[in-house]
Amino acid sequence: MRVVLSIGGSSINPDGKPDINFLKGIAKVLRESKNEFGIVTGGGSVARAYANAARELGAGEYDADSVAIIATKQNAHILIAALGDIAHPNVPMTFERARLAFGKHRVVVMGGTIPGITTDSDSALLAEAIGATRLVNISNVDAIYDSDPRKNPNAKKFEKLAYDQLIGLAVKSDKRTAGTHFVFDMLACKLISRSKIETHFVSCKNLKDVANAIEGKKHGGTVVKA
Ligand code: UTP
Repeated sequence: MRVVLSIGGSSINPDGKPDINFLKGIAKVLRESKNEFGIVTGGGSVARAYANAARELGAGEYDADSVAIIATKQNAHILIAALGDIAHPNVPMTFERARLAFGKHRVVVMGGTIPGITTDSDSALLAEAIGATRLVNISNVDAIYDSDPRKNPNAKKFEKLAYDQLIGLAVKSDKRTAGTHFVFDMLACKLISRSKIETHFVSCKNLKDVANAIEGKKHGGTVVKA
């Protein structure tokens, strides 16, 4: 089956340089699985630094996003390097190209696509485009909580959520102060809901959870399904 992974930039590049151990670890998980994978990599702090620099230099939001997209593609390339011959060697620019890239290779890795969205939405769109019914979101957050666990020690972790509940949480967090953002953006929530894509939220620090989520097995994160 086809599975889409959305890998946050902070998982690939947590502190200004690529995390070789994470890249080797995720590559091993993918090599040991029999599935086909469509992957979208985020840009993390590198994307944010370049977008902010562009803004300080006078660029508008379209161009700030455009430079951030390049950072997401840099992470796609470094992941391809870790995957070796199971991955298509190029980073497709569009979902149509990604769809065509399967065949000789069972893993296709892409970055962002157009300004104005995020790689959360790219991953949901890629899942729709390639007919994947499962999406695994890998980030430095281990699950979805009812409030920010870093601020609230009593935050409740959700094992399972329905699509409407996820959208409710995303709406609630939209109203929070600037700078805080929900683990999955609203457009992405709406896309997985309309196509009923089973979506798992797991931590990049727990590759056993990642492997279980890929196979649709139980893990310590959150699963969103009907
Ligand atoms: P993301 O915000 O999706 O990366 O893309 P990330 O590393 O997963 O982000 P965190 O970890 O949630 O913070 C980085 C930036 O690239 C631009 C946006 O500016 C986005 O904030 N981008 C990405 C686009 O403009 N279009 C895309 O399709 C993807």
